[in-house]
Amino acid sequence: MKGYRAALLRFDPAAAPQQSAVYEADGLLVVGPDARGTQVVQAAGAWTTLAPRYPGLVVAHWPGRLIAPGFVDLHLHYPQTNVIGSPASGLLPWLENYTFPEEQRFESPDYSAAEAAFFLDELLRHGVTTALTFATSHPASVQALFTAAQQRQLRVITGLCLMDRHAPAALLNRAGPGGTDATEQSLIDSESLLQQWQGVGRLGYAITPRFAPTSSDAQLRGAGELAARHPQAWVQSHVAENPDEISWARALFPQSRSYLATYADFGLMRERSVYAHCIHFDDADRALMCETGAAAAVCPTSNLFLGSGFFDYAAADLAGFCYGLASDVGGGTSFSPFHTMLAAYYVGREGQAKPGLSLSPQQLWWQHTAGAAQALGLDGRGGGPAVGNLQPGCEADFVVLNPQATPLLARRTGRAATLDELLFALIVLGDDRVVERTVISQAI
Ligand code: GUN
Ligand code: ZN
Repeated sequence: MKGYRAALLRFDPAAAPQQSAVYEADGLLVVGPDARGTQVVQAAGAWTTLAPRYPGLVVAHWPGRLIAPGFVDLHLHYPQTNVIGSPASGLLPWLENYTFPEEQRFESPDYSAAEAAFFLDELLRHGVTTALTFATSHPASVQALFTAAQQRQLRVITGLCLMDRHAPAALLNRAGPGGTDATEQSLIDSESLLQQWQGVGRLGYAITPRFAPTSSDAQLRGAGELAARHPQAWVQSHVAENPDEISWARALFPQSRSYLATYADFGLMRERSVYAHCIHFDDADRALMCETGAAAAVCPTSNLFLGSGFFDYAAADLAGFCYGLASDVGGGTSFSPFHTMLAAYYVGREGQAKPGLSLSPQQLWWQHTAGAAQALGLDGRGGGPAVGNLQPGCEADFVVLNPQATPLLARRTGRAATLDELLFALIVLGDDRVVERTVISQAI
C-alpha cells in the first residue's frame, strides 16, 4: 500500500459530466493491490480525513501539485507520428500524399519497433495512460506496438488495419502463403493476433476496418463475424468525417441507409465499437449509435486542421450516445490532452445551440478521462477494469500536474478563484510541460 498526497481531482460517476469533478485541495490517494494483484485506488479523499485511517502508510508528498486521472485517448494512429502537421486541402489528399506513403514503412519490424517506442513514450510524456490506436495493415506493426506497450505496462488497444482495396498496393492486406486471398488472410491474421494479445495484461484487440471505402463487402462481413465471435474485443473505424469521403462511401455501399448504417449492416456496430469523427450525422445515425451502444471518438484538433467540420455536442447529448476525446494523431496536431481539450472547447462553441452555452472545463476534462473510459466500456461496469478515474477500485494510473509549470501558467492558476477557473487555466495554457510525471498503476 502506498499513499500520494497533493491536490486531487477525480470524477463522480453518478453526476452530470459538467459538474462531476471532485476536488481536494489537500488530498490523499491510497493505492494497493486488489484480489487479483492489480494496483487499484483503495481510497481517495481529503488528507485530514483519510490519513488517520492509514497509520504507517508510506506517503509521497507533492506540495503545490495536482494528481489527476491518466488521460484516455480514444482514437489515434501510432504510424502517423511522423506526418503530424502535413498540409492538405482535406482528408483524402492528406491520406494519399502523406499518410499512405508513411504507413507503407511499417512493413519493416525494425521501423515499427522504433516508431512504437517513440509513440508510447510520447503518450506517457503527455500523461496518456490508455489509448485506442490504429496500427497499419502489416501484422509486424501490430506485434511491435503490443510488445512495446507490454514493456511499459500501458493500457493499449490496437489491431491489424483491414484494407483490401482503394489504396496503394503496398498498403493493402497481403494474400497468404498457401493461396488464401488477401481478404481471407487479413481476417485470419486479425483473429490470430486477437487470440495472441486480447486480455494479455492490460492489452486489448480492436478489429479495425480502416473505413468502409478501403474494404470490400467480404472484408467488412468477415470483420463483423469476428466482432460477433469476440464480444470482449473492440471495433474501431472512421465515419462521417468529410463530404468527399461520405460521397465515396455512399457510392460504394448504396444499399445502406447512410454511411454509418453500412457498418451496422455488416455487424460492426455494438458496444465496444468506437467510430472516429461522427461529424456529418443525421438524427437516424445518432439513434443508431444509441441503439447499438457504439461510441464516438471526437477528434477536434484533427477536424479543425483538416477542415472536416464540427462535432455536434448538443445533438449527441440529446440522442444520448457515448463519446470521448481523441487526438487523432497524425490528422490531429498534438499528443497533448490539453491541446485536444482546448480544441474541443472551440468546437463546442462553434456548434452551440444557444448563444452563451459552452462546454465546461469539468466536462472537457471528463471527456478525456472518465467519459472516454466509459465509451470504451472500461468504467468498471459488470466488474471489469475501470480506468480514467481515481475512485476506489479504479486502476491507479495518474498524472502529477504542475500548475506552476510556466511563468504565465503560475500567474494565471495563482489567481484562479474556483475549480472551473483552475481547470480552464490548465486547459488553455497547459501542454506537456504541465505533466511532471505519469504514474502507471502496474509499475508502482
Ligand atoms: N479515414 C480513413 N483513414 C483515416 C486516417 O488515417 N485519418 C483520418 N483522420 N481519417 C481517416
Ligand atoms: Zn483516425
